[in-house]
Amino acid sequence: MQTSWIPFLPPSASTVSGKVDALYFYLSGVTLFFTLLISGVLILFVIKYRRRTPFEIPRPIAGSHKLETLWSVIPFIIAMSIFAWGAQVYFQMYRPPKNAVEIYVVGKQWMWKIQHSTGQREINELHVPSGRKVKLIMTSEDVIHDFFIPAFRVKADVLPGRYTTQWFEATKPGTYHLFCAEFCGMNHSGMIGSIVVMQPTQFDNWLSGNAGQQSPAVAGQQLYESLGCVSCHGARGEGGRGPALAGLFGKQVFLSNGQTVIADEGYVRESIENPSAKLVNGFGPIMPTFQGQVTPDQLIQIMSFIKSLQASPGTTAPGSSPAPSGTLRDGRPQLQSTK
Ligand code: CUA
Repeated sequence: MQTSWIPFLPPSASTVSGKVDALYFYLSGVTLFFTLLISGVLILFVIKYRRRTPFEIPRPIAGSHKLETLWSVIPFIIAMSIFAWGAQVYFQMYRPPKNAVEIYVVGKQWMWKIQHSTGQREINELHVPSGRKVKLIMTSEDVIHDFFIPAFRVKADVLPGRYTTQWFEATKPGTYHLFCAEFCGMNHSGMIGSIVVMQPTQFDNWLSGNAGQQSPAVAGQQLYESLGCVSCHGARGEGGRGPALAGLFGKQVFLSNGQTVIADEGYVRESIENPSAKLVNGFGPIMPTFQGQVTPDQLIQIMSFIKSLQASPGTTAPGSSPAPSGTLRDGRPQLQSTK
């Protein structure tokens, strides 16, 4: 692992790491400049304006508008430049791109469990391709952890009962540190691992090397059948007594209380664990809770299955928008879509 000439600076190996560093150096530079300026002027004035005779009376100063304007406007401009630059880097880091490869991460005391969409599992190790965007969808089985890859300059809390995401694009093949950056109990300091960045073709070989593993979507389909979801949501997720699941993910959902939500990971999870929290318009509170009956791993599998369901033409998706065809949510017949 190559290190920088600056001590303690981790290697820079993602598309954002250089930008984070540049901002960091700018902040350090501004701090250093003003520290030197203020202490220098301080020392200079102590010497220059020292009391020379015991009875000396200083010349009174009434104030200076010019000076006051200057020392207000200059710091304002500097502060705003930090804000604008920081916001720009922040937005880039916290808006995952649409075309990213999705990898699931589950944290628990004291290890990282990782699953690729092909079914490949890893513990305390994450293999990723260089030059491709990767999005991590993360949750915890117990307490708050924090998935931190210093070389990529990315870091996000991993919470129980919720999904958080972060994304990166690795630029240099190599092995990098993975840390848990949230104190999570006795062996927190041992909750470490490595990120292995491979050339894309090498990565594809690695990923297909363990063929025969069940993908999370297939495992999710089995759970969907064994837990009985199928009896209300339809064999192909087309809907029935429960809302349609096909084509649901990422769409807007109309709720019975008149509100709308986006069917993201958090919504799907809540609807499984606490179904009556956000009832879909047109459906009653008949679904039992599955809280405690599905593990975080299984939730991820069911999620993958739901994501894999595409809306097939001819099925109605009550409550989800846009309805593929059939009726609008208020029951009026829908005109043929010209899309
Ligand atoms: Cu997990 Cu600290």
